Amino acid sequence: MVEVDALSVEEARAELEKLASEIARHDALYHADDQPEISDAEYDALRRRNLAIEQKFPDLVREDSPSKRVGYVALDKFEKITHAVPMLSLDNAFNDEDVHEFVGRVRRFLKLDPLQPVPLTSEPKIDGLSLTLRYEKGKLVSAGTRGDGSVGENVTENAKTIADVPTVLACDNPPDVVEVRGEVYMTHEAFQALNARMEAEGKPTYVNPRNTAAGSLRQLDSAITARRPLRFFAYAWGEMSEMPSGTQMGMVEWLKACGFRINPLMQRHETIEELLENYRYIEKVRPELEYDIDGVVYKVDELALQSRLGFASRFPRWAIAHKFPAEKAWTILRDIEIQVGRTGALTPVARLEPVTVGGVVVTNATLHNEDYVKGIGSKGEPLRDGKDLRIGDHVMLQRAGDVIPQILDVDLDKRPEVAQMFAFPETCPACGSAALREINANTGKADSVKRCTGGLVCPAQAVERLKHFVSRGALDIDGLGDKQVEAFYEQGRIADAADIFTLRERDARFLKKLKDMEGWGATSASKLFDAIDDKRSADFYRVIFGLGIRHVGEQTAKDLARAYLDVDGFNAAMGKLDQAEAYEELTAIDGIGDTVAIALREFFAEQRNLDVWNRLMEQMSPTPPEQASGDSPVAGKTVVFTGSLEKMTRDEAKAMAERLGAKVSGSVSKKTDLLVAGPGAGSKLKKATDLGVETIDEDGWFELVGALI
Ligand code: IVH
Repeated sequence: MVEVDALSVEEARAELEKLASEIARHDALYHADDQPEISDAEYDALRRRNLAIEQKFPDLVREDSPSKRVGYVALDKFEKITHAVPMLSLDNAFNDEDVHEFVGRVRRFLKLDPLQPVPLTSEPKIDGLSLTLRYEKGKLVSAGTRGDGSVGENVTENAKTIADVPTVLACDNPPDVVEVRGEVYMTHEAFQALNARMEAEGKPTYVNPRNTAAGSLRQLDSAITARRPLRFFAYAWGEMSEMPSGTQMGMVEWLKACGFRINPLMQRHETIEELLENYRYIEKVRPELEYDIDGVVYKVDELALQSRLGFASRFPRWAIAHKFPAEKAWTILRDIEIQVGRTGALTPVARLEPVTVGGVVVTNATLHNEDYVKGIGSKGEPLRDGKDLRIGDHVMLQRAGDVIPQILDVDLDKRPEVAQMFAFPETCPACGSAALREINANTGKADSVKRCTGGLVCPAQAVERLKHFVSRGALDIDGLGDKQVEAFYEQGRIADAADIFTLRERDARFLKKLKDMEGWGATSASKLFDAIDDKRSADFYRVIFGLGIRHVGEQTAKDLARAYLDVDGFNAAMGKLDQAEAYEELTAIDGIGDTVAIALREFFAEQRNLDVWNRLMEQMSPTPPEQASGDSPVAGKTVVFTGSLEKMTRDEAKAMAERLGAKVSGSVSKKTDLLVAGPGAGSKLKKATDLGVETIDEDGWFELVGALI
């Protein structure tokens, strides 16, 4: 085939004409007659060729061009879509006890009478990917993937090709805004048929139906998505201008009336026993289902209770996924390697003889720490019945969902004579510094993790810190993944987070510009620089999280951002953590204890960390956390609850206050705006009175916020 660049105008015109009629003929064969003559890959190649020629010769795009065909759209990249209501994930339960605990938590949170039943629904957890569909005045207007939960990709054109997704709601008088959420998946049959075709063509096959479904939904050319038989189950909703029902079950039935497929195994139960019975039933029929499931999801049926329960960081408190037991397989431990993490932890990793577990080929497993390899748990208890791991051993591997595979057992009967004990290194393999087990200040015991003491001089830690900084939960820079970070570090382009933001400016001075490096070109390099520029105004909490300070996870970073609001406030506080007052103010923030406070103090006491932070802040202007709506009388205020509360539990009070935009603190200070004191309030009430802080009781609280909850 002639290179597109080498085509003359006449040749291009002729080829576009031929492609238009050829693609139209294959579309008809596929869609109307269900008798394709060519493979999907060949079809994709035709469309790509058509697109490439059109891009080179935009004036020659035909009226009947396949790229213009109604119904199918080809994009350069997906637009972002911001979810009006975040798309969250679910907490997990792994056994019956966890389920009892979950129901117990719900009851305690709501202060329910022990005799009052809490009806729950149960339904299969589909192993696909979630999709949100927005309908305005009954018509499908957009579709988005979950993305990071707040912002996903706009896949509207692709969603329209899924037969289970109605473009118009079928129910009578739907609310003006309806957002339907559910799971996109591929059946086993469709997956096998697709893979058989791929194999026949000598093309790489897909790993499992889930990945195939994800790959198919994220095709830039919706004509390709249309040829992948995707299916959709509706099970939840996002923004709704009106609620057609007051229960989970009622809502799902309503979704059915609107034209969606809902899962036939969904049930409503009055007792935990019934709930677990349906779990076992679903587990039993699992092998016969035409799609993959990885557990059963339980949800509190009453929506009024759901909204009182609300959310805890990433999960709703009113739902849980009861996972099926993990899949297991035997294989051989070929080697053990040491990885150095961003906080210096030395983690042994098992290199395994590749083995398929639950449909996925596994080659690595984590071995956690030195003791784990020796067969000793963190409390000194024997692991794997005290069996140690030796290179050459036959080991049993477990893989559950997306979690990192683990080794659970060793077959000593099969241990070869040459099996070798693993000598855990005394020094960091990356920088040669001593690797030590820290002594835990609270328990006085040595930590199970060995850490490199090289700190800021250790290149492995530096690279891991950089990877963390650009990762999804942190800055989430498009086009800058682990591989690129490693290469840039090696080439001396970046050494710390601040360097990322001066990459473009410094690029001109490099002997070899990024665009001239292997795998890069002018377009991809400038795209990367643009993506970096985009993140100069990233959310403040993402920047804090991105620093990779020990013990400062995403939630803690959010708590910090909300407490200090902006860089100046944060800097002022971090700069004087050696002073008791500032330190106490920090630990008064709800969710922040000594462990985090000490880690922050240590981090900012290190001059080199401070330098990187200051250089980074010269390059960025992070976006402060959104202030909750001005409608709430407690938005932006610092509230303390004390004494016993009767109408709500402490957790519920805290969640409610946060939902209304307040900061909840555990102790009274000059910064406290409001004290809610129940009976039995003691020293906090006195301190508040002394400081002149406004004080109300529980009824007063409900009067203040009552209309808003
Ligand atoms: S409910 C706020 N129901 O599991 C909770 N999720 O681990 C909304 N999933 O992101 C989710 N089947 O993609 C729910 N029957 C089901 C589900 C289900 C699969 C997925 C979904 C979600 C993930 C959470």
